[in-house]
Amino acid sequence: MNEQRFEGLSLAEIEEINAKISHYPDKAAVSIEALKIVQKYRRWVSDECLVAVAGLLEISPAQLEGVATFYNLIYRKPVGKTVIHYCDSVTCWMLGSDSIGESLCRHLNVKLGEMSADGEYTILPIVCLGACDHAPVAMVGTELKLDMTEDAVNKILGR
Ligand code: FES
Repeated sequence: MNEQRFEGLSLAEIEEINAKISHYPDKAAVSIEALKIVQKYRRWVSDECLVAVAGLLEISPAQLEGVATFYNLIYRKPVGKTVIHYCDSVTCWMLGSDSIGESLCRHLNVKLGEMSADGEYTILPIVCLGACDHAPVAMVGTELKLDMTEDAVNKILGR
């Protein structure tokens, strides 16, 4: 193993990624899983880590960047401990998702994609979460929140 090539990843990350690789005939098939592993340890995937993962998977960093960009639950910038995604697809948008997003940002005094000053939260839009009959919808960490209101925003943020 060329240690230099994988610089930036911990031994635990490398071992987990290699364990995944061992289940697939094609290393590139592990791209999303490998990025998720890095994110599990660091909350986001830095350029340095992306290059290192690409090295492990024997693909180009540009190829892996394409995967990371396409998959919107891979964060390429530092995020807070909890990421709140609010759905901005059509049904949620028609039922006020914009004001939910604005309210979340206003309460935390952040712009979309920024981390709150206490490092707790990041607010990001996301495409349809598949619960359109309960629009507007948000995902707080891994928890789906249905029928979002201003009160729900206050409750989530403990205000
Ligand atoms: Fe928001 Fe489907 S449009 S959950």
